[in-house]
Amino acid sequence: MPQISDEIRPQFPILSQNIGENPLIYLDNAATAQKPKCVIDAISEFYEKDNANAHRGMHPLAERATKVYEAARDSVQGFINAHSRREIVFTRNTTESINLVARTWGEENLKKGDTVLLSLLEHHSDIVPWLQLKERKGANVRWAGVKKDGSLDMDEAEKIIREESVKLMCITCVSNVLGTRTDFESLTKLVHEHGGIALLDAAQLAPHSQIDVQKIGCDFLAFSAHKIYGPLGIGVLYGKEELLKNMPPYLGGGMMIEEVSEDCFTATDPPEKFEAGTQPIAEARGLHATIDFIEEIGWERIQRHESELMDYALRKLSELKFVKILGPNENRLGCIALVTEPVHPHDLTEYCGRKGVCMRAGLHCAQPLHKALGFNASTRMSFGIYNTKEDIDRACNVIKEAYKFFTD
Ligand code: ALA
Repeated sequence: MPQISDEIRPQFPILSQNIGENPLIYLDNAATAQKPKCVIDAISEFYEKDNANAHRGMHPLAERATKVYEAARDSVQGFINAHSRREIVFTRNTTESINLVARTWGEENLKKGDTVLLSLLEHHSDIVPWLQLKERKGANVRWAGVKKDGSLDMDEAEKIIREESVKLMCITCVSNVLGTRTDFESLTKLVHEHGGIALLDAAQLAPHSQIDVQKIGCDFLAFSAHKIYGPLGIGVLYGKEELLKNMPPYLGGGMMIEEVSEDCFTATDPPEKFEAGTQPIAEARGLHATIDFIEEIGWERIQRHESELMDYALRKLSELKFVKILGPNENRLGCIALVTEPVHPHDLTEYCGRKGVCMRAGLHCAQPLHKALGFNASTRMSFGIYNTKEDIDRACNVIKEAYKFFTD
C-alpha cells in the first residue's frame, strides 16, 4: 500500500533538493514545516491578482482583499470548530497570541497573589509573558512538574488547581521538545470547576491533531500557521467571545477603533479590536489554503501515518545503543528529543545537517524543561506528513556516522 507521503511529498517543491551530495531529509518540522505548492500558489495568486489593503478601500481590489482575509477567518473558525468567527483573532504567531492575552486579560484580571499555573513542559513563549506579569503585577507563578519519563505530573497539576485557586492555567497541549501530549482536556475541566480559566498553547498540537475548542471548552487557544504547512507571519488566537469583548485592546492603531477624538478613543468589537494596522492578508490567504490542504488529506490519514512514523523512529533510534531518547514512550506527537553523550547535541546536529539531515539542537526555547531533565541541550527530530520511514533510516545512519566521527 502506498504511504501517504508518496502522494504528499511531491507537492512540496523544497523537498526535492540535495544538500551537497545528499538528499534533503527535513526533520525540523516542529520549528517550521515546509509549504505545499498549493499554499505557495495561493499566496502568489493573491499578490498577482487581488493585492490591496483590506477593510479600507472601496475599489474592487480592496473588496477582494477584504473577502480573502475574512474568508480565512471563516476557514479557521471551521478548522478549530469555534462557536463564532468573532472568536478568531489573527496575530503574528503563537507567541504574539499568548502575549496578547497576558497584556490584556492578564493586565486587567490578575492581581498580586493570584496564581498562574504553568507546566515545566512549556516553551519560553508560554513562560516569559507570565514572568513579566509576575514582575509587573505580583502574580504568583506556579509550576506543575514532569515525571522522569517526561510526562506531565498530573497529580501535582491537579493539587495546585485544587488548593491554590488558580485564576489562569497556561499549558501546552504537546511539548515542543519531547512530544508529550498533556491531558489538557481534563485539566481545563478541573480549572473551570475551581473558578479559573485555561489558555492552551496548541502550536505543536495543530499540525498533528484535529482541534475542537468547543469540545475542549478552553477559554483561549493559540497556534501558528507556519507549523501547519502555512505561511510564516500569521498566527491565531482563539478566545471565547465574552472574554474578548471585555478585554482592553492590545495594539492601538487603524481599524481597531469605533471613534477617535483629540483626547480619547473607543475601541471597536473583537476581533478587529485586536488587529490594529494593515493585516497579514496574503498570509491569511496562505493559511486558508493550508487548512483546505489538510482537510483534503483528512486527519485520520495524517494521524495514522504520523503514528506509524513515530513508532518506527522510536524503534530505530532505540536500536542505537548510544542514543538516549528523552520523553515518554506513549502519548507523544510529532517529535523526539535525544542525547548521544559524550557528543554534544550541537556537534551531532551540525554534522547531520551537513549530510542533509535537518534537525534542531539546543534548548528548543524550553530551558526549565531541560534543567528538570538534567540536560543542557538535546537534538530534536520532528516529523511532518511528508516524512517517510526511509527518512528515519537515513537519519539514523547519519546519526551513527556522526557519533563515530566524534568518538573514534
Ligand atoms: N517553537 C519552535 C520550536 O520548537 C520554533 O522549534
